[in-house]
Amino acid sequence: MQTPSGHLVEPALGARLVVLASGGGSNLAALLAAHEDPAYGARVVGVVSDKPGAGALDLARQAGIPSVVVAPSDFADRDAWNDGVREAVEVFRPDWVVLAGFMRILAPSFLDRFRGRVVNTHPALLPSFPGAHGVRDALAYGVRVTGCTVHVVDDGVDTGPIIAQTAVPVLDDDDEGTLHERIKVAERALLVETVGRAAREGLRVEGRQAVVGA
Ligand code: GAR
Repeated sequence: MQTPSGHLVEPALGARLVVLASGGGSNLAALLAAHEDPAYGARVVGVVSDKPGAGALDLARQAGIPSVVVAPSDFADRDAWNDGVREAVEVFRPDWVVLAGFMRILAPSFLDRFRGRVVNTHPALLPSFPGAHGVRDALAYGVRVTGCTVHVVDDGVDTGPIIAQTAVPVLDDDDEGTLHERIKVAERALLVETVGRAAREGLRVEGRQAVVGA
């Protein structure tokens, strides 16, 4: 349903999640653990990666979840790759598309297809430190608190309406690796909780406000 300044995603019983991941897939693993419980209200039905060697693909295979690789090198250009990702995701008929460590930008044509139902997890407290190096950039800036953000994806880079955030303190002896590991612990819990609630209760977006529980 569209309203002039926003949209509403209705609750979906047994919501179908398609997870896009480029990396090791610890966030995917957390979603796969959560979906074992029928009360979670959502289940991962497909995994799509841009990287043939992504650990996330191994996790999908081990869990018996279908997975697809859509590698940019197999396409003539960015638009064709974007269409390939859209088609791969469409096959799974998702209620929600979850970007869990997916390190590429999706074009507006992808987002238009799944408008308002694409969420991303980012390892910083947006709007600070968007982009591919959120942890490194926060550390370099010298912030004492950073964290993670789950947000609705819009046409910008990490600019969409924020659904939920968790703060994580920066320790004096942190390096990028230690800080990212602590952020990931918070991030997994936040992603599982936020996606589950959005699936079970719906999500209303009005301007910059994204509220679970339509
Ligand atoms: C996560 O920390 C996620 O927030 C980050 O990649 C990591 C993936 O971890 N994503 C970004 O930085 C996107 N800009 P995982 O592969 O173990 O889930």
